[in-house]
Amino acid sequence: MKQTIHPVKRLNGTVCVPGDKSISHRAVMFGAIASGDTRISHFLRSADCLSTVSCFRKLGIELEEDPAGETIIVHGRGLRGLREASEVLYTGNSATTTRLISGILAGQGFASTLDGDASIRKRPMKRIMTPLSLMGADIRSLHENGCVPLRIAPAVLHAIDYLSPTASAQVKSCVLLAGLYAEGTTTVTEPFLSRNHTELMLSGLGARVSSRKTENGYEASIAPEPELHGFDITIPGDISSAAYFLAAALIVPGSEVLIKNVGINPTRTGILQAAQRMGGDIRILNQKIQGGEMAADLLVRSSALTGIEVGAEMIPTLIDELPVLAVLAAYASGTTVIRHAAELRVKESDRIETTTNMLRAMGAHITPTPDGMVIEGGAPLHGAVTDSCLDHRIAMSAAVCALAAEGPTTIRDAECIDISYPSFYSDLSSLTEG
Ligand code: S3P
Repeated sequence: MKQTIHPVKRLNGTVCVPGDKSISHRAVMFGAIASGDTRISHFLRSADCLSTVSCFRKLGIELEEDPAGETIIVHGRGLRGLREASEVLYTGNSATTTRLISGILAGQGFASTLDGDASIRKRPMKRIMTPLSLMGADIRSLHENGCVPLRIAPAVLHAIDYLSPTASAQVKSCVLLAGLYAEGTTTVTEPFLSRNHTELMLSGLGARVSSRKTENGYEASIAPEPELHGFDITIPGDISSAAYFLAAALIVPGSEVLIKNVGINPTRTGILQAAQRMGGDIRILNQKIQGGEMAADLLVRSSALTGIEVGAEMIPTLIDELPVLAVLAAYASGTTVIRHAAELRVKESDRIETTTNMLRAMGAHITPTPDGMVIEGGAPLHGAVTDSCLDHRIAMSAAVCALAAEGPTTIRDAECIDISYPSFYSDLSSLTEG
């Protein structure tokens, strides 16, 4: 599908973004291995989270979805209650599903095979195979290329103290989940703090999880648990989805947008800090706790932006927002430098390359580097025909960029937004009508 986006005079109004993707995945997974029922409200019904749902159905878990779609009940079967799947567990485009479920499957008494789409077949899985193997797991890449398909066979797990070379919540969560099934206390240390939804949710369920900063980085530990109990959770809105409206409101003159009920866990708010440092007028209102996480409304007004440098420590807190941050940088005056973000090369697409191509097609001055991008802001931007490269975040970033450019933009393969935000285009047009 192609989507054409026209420039707009201004954006105005209120928008509620769908539930957080990372938290939605975790709620289903942890609900499945808890005993009893888990009720998840404001669940993100996007292709990625539905991949998680489908894998757990194949593992013998019953899930009830209400017809309106935002509530899901997981009938958990306990830590050892999953059943051997009779077919391959297909994780679609979702690295979160693939990497987190691997930690759970490594501790089961049955074998599983995981596979995914063409993009997931290129994503690095050695980063989880290495620590899981150190724990005693029997995990193999069937094509011996460090990617899916993966075969995970039963094994007895023992705790490890793992120094992760990358700040990755998926690696950290995978190891912590395997740690639930291991003998002893499992510890993961990462160089910078990545999103901590796993730690927060598991400790909310009564698991013995602890986190601290050490001289080597940020440490999270878990002790094995005999039982987790089902829970009720209302998932806050996804800041990674809110980021598109935030960026759109900042760059389109005369805009004022209220984004309701957005998760503002400090491990995710790098985009707020970066945009505020650029001069963005963003107010954080009505702070509250929802689903064990901080949430708030964001009031955003268009602003004159200036370029910034984004440092290493901040990268994990806005990793998924870097394409849209590059869009902000293209509309800012001065230079924006993004470094220490080589992880972008192994996302749904090589986001250094795909962000560069998308912004260049629209006239921006952007130079890719091995681990980031340098954007010289202020060049006049024009509409273009641009490719999503089947990457949802590239499609949504292009749509935002198009709103303040000269002339229309056509996004090819625009339906890939279904991965994280199926109603994105209609929510965007609700702010531009009139
Ligand atoms: C996620 C962690 C991040 C992020 C991804 C979701 C998660 O990946 O990019 O979209 O839910 O744990 P990494 O852990 O690979 O950095």
